[in-house]
Amino acid sequence: MREADVIIVGSGLAALMVAYHLCEYKNVIIFTKSNKETSNSWLAQGGVAAAIHPNDHWLSHYEDTIIAGCEHNNDEAVRILVQEGREAIQHFMNIGFLFDVDERGQLLFGQEGAHRMKRILHAGGDATGKNMVSFLFEKLSGRVTFIENDPVIDLLVSDGHCVGVQTKHRTYTANATVIATGGIGQLYTFTSNAETATGDGIAMAYRAGAAVTDMEFVQFHPTMLYVNGKAVGLISEAVRGEGAILVTDDGRQVMDGVHPQKDLAPRDVVSRAIDHEIKNGHRVFLNISMIPHFPSRFPTITSLCERYHVDWRSGLIPVVPGAHFLMGGIVVNMDGETTLPGLYAVGEAACTGVHGANRLASNSLLEAFVFSRRLAFHLLQKAEQHRKLKKSERKENHLCIVLPTRDEIQHVMTQYVGIVRDYDKLFQAKRWFEQYSIHELVTVAPEEDDEKRTIIYMLIVGWLITTSALQRKESRGAHYRSDEPFEKMYWEKRRIIRTKAEHFT
Ligand code: SIN
Repeated sequence: MREADVIIVGSGLAALMVAYHLCEYKNVIIFTKSNKETSNSWLAQGGVAAAIHPNDHWLSHYEDTIIAGCEHNNDEAVRILVQEGREAIQHFMNIGFLFDVDERGQLLFGQEGAHRMKRILHAGGDATGKNMVSFLFEKLSGRVTFIENDPVIDLLVSDGHCVGVQTKHRTYTANATVIATGGIGQLYTFTSNAETATGDGIAMAYRAGAAVTDMEFVQFHPTMLYVNGKAVGLISEAVRGEGAILVTDDGRQVMDGVHPQKDLAPRDVVSRAIDHEIKNGHRVFLNISMIPHFPSRFPTITSLCERYHVDWRSGLIPVVPGAHFLMGGIVVNMDGETTLPGLYAVGEAACTGVHGANRLASNSLLEAFVFSRRLAFHLLQKAEQHRKLKKSERKENHLCIVLPTRDEIQHVMTQYVGIVRDYDKLFQAKRWFEQYSIHELVTVAPEEDDEKRTIIYMLIVGWLITTSALQRKESRGAHYRSDEPFEKMYWEKRRIIRTKAEHFT
């Protein structure tokens, strides 16, 4: 058994920012099930939204966030995000991070969907996430312990407190355990997410007794690069911010007459419009021919196209929507505390309610900056309370059911719990999930085999998304039901909160 002050599970921006603020004062261990470069943050292209341009105001960013989120947002979280976000980004620049600037050294601001003005700071053109994460690896070098390729398989709970984690090889205890494992994109066939985004952190927190919420809100990004029937990577919304237009194979503009903001409408609207075209047998392309110097503004996207032999010089890039971001997650307050004492969550795995029903573009990196800092400061102020794990609380039983494959889960989620849902599809998906005895998956000892455990955690998360989507009998933001196509007053600001207790009633 090893001890730490703080254990962080995950190696994306949210994890690293918590570690950065704590490492001078606390003994921090960061676990990642893969290598530390594998995360959604590493893949983030567009940038980080912050109201720091002299003509911008936090109130305008606040309003854009709430309009995109279909007013399902937690207003306090949004205010904190946009106000403290400016300070957090300024601090990041003060410690040496370089955003892209023009020839006079002035910050360059990009535009993305549903923002009324250019407020997206970027780095390396479209390599913002990679640059930020690499910068933090340097800052953290020698100051925290990274444990790579050692998956956390379960959370340890003793006397109603989370007291650490179980990995395949060892038990680690800590005063605070932070889940920063990111999202769930790999539950779908097409996704922008890293291979590792299978929802394990959310499943482990739910199994440990923490509440989760808003699981029905899964954002689909409109534009993944589409090659040979597969989505092979993200084409940033910043490309549309520079003027690119979505067109069909018969030359129509996809967003004509759909929304006043056209190609820069909120993501849920654009993804549904593309999905509609594809279901009607059309192919959809991004027309980039009007963007000068495409390779220097978008080097990552240019090399992605070249890797897959897509001729970006033709001006047309084939695209398809893909699962991108989970607005819901582990319930946390403004300091990252979950409903399970000793357990904290931050970044995409957490849900403060800041994103409402549909996240505004480039607010996720900002969320990582702001809420990681708050969580770290909270932990610094909190009195130390190291609890011991009692042996009797370990789960002992083992599972004896035949599990499905990843492909099967992805197929069910994509066909029945995707961009357009309805009661029949959701009910079919619920029945499919429940043949795997979710009650048992939630209570058994963690599976040692990596693939089997991943499948179990994907089943738990898929079931939570499906059954939450069934409960919400309206359409709002990214949760669209063709049988309930409008927002309903009854559901305004109403959250569906789920806990493990539901398996025992
Ligand atoms: C993008 O670059 O389009 C993605 C940015 C985001 O998800 O906020």
